[in-house]
Amino acid sequence: MPLYRTATEADTIALGARLANELPRGVVLLIGNLGAGKTTLAKGIASGLGAASPDDVASPTFTLIHEYGRGLVYHVDLYRLEEAREIESLGIEDLIDSGALVLIEWGERFPELFPPPRTEIYLRALPDDSREIELRRLG
Ligand SMILES: Nc1ncnc2c1ncn2[C@@H]1O[C@H](COP(=O)(O)OP(=O)(O)OP(=O)(O)O)[C@@H](O)[C@H]1O
Ligand SMILES: [Mg+2]
Repeated sequence: MPLYRTATEADTIALGARLANELPRGVVLLIGNLGAGKTTLAKGIASGLGAASPDDVASPTFTLIHEYGRGLVYHVDLYRLEEAREIESLGIEDLIDSGALVLIEWGERFPELFPPPRTEIYLRALPDDSREIELRRLG
């Protein structure tokens, strides 16, 4: 379970870019409080895969799902959803089955929808604004 520390937003983007090619396709849950850096890390991951430049990656809080690199990467934000059945209607399963990398914010609230195999990336803000970032592979 690798543990990383990033000092700045740019560092977190760079870490995402470095990790991107090692992440198995399928579900990646980005787990952390509001402002922890989930979307920032997603910018790095999408750019590391050559699917988008970091500036093109914006939070899908209202749009729910963004696609980058024509089906290569999807970025999902479930913050505004409350019920599993609302999420099921989004068709995320099909994206997972397509072999894409599916980055999901706030997905840990619905663990039954995202059974292993999956990757979990935990982000924690420290008082000096650095971030602790830990990877776990399940299944
Ligand atoms: N070391 C760091 N790594 C990442 N972001 C940092 C860091 N230091 C400061 N920041 C700032 O923290 C914020 C992280 O925002 P981001 O949108 O990535 O969080 P989030 O976890 O996606 O939040 P939300 O739950 O609201 O979607 C940005 O404003 C960024 O500039
Ligand atoms: Mg976000």
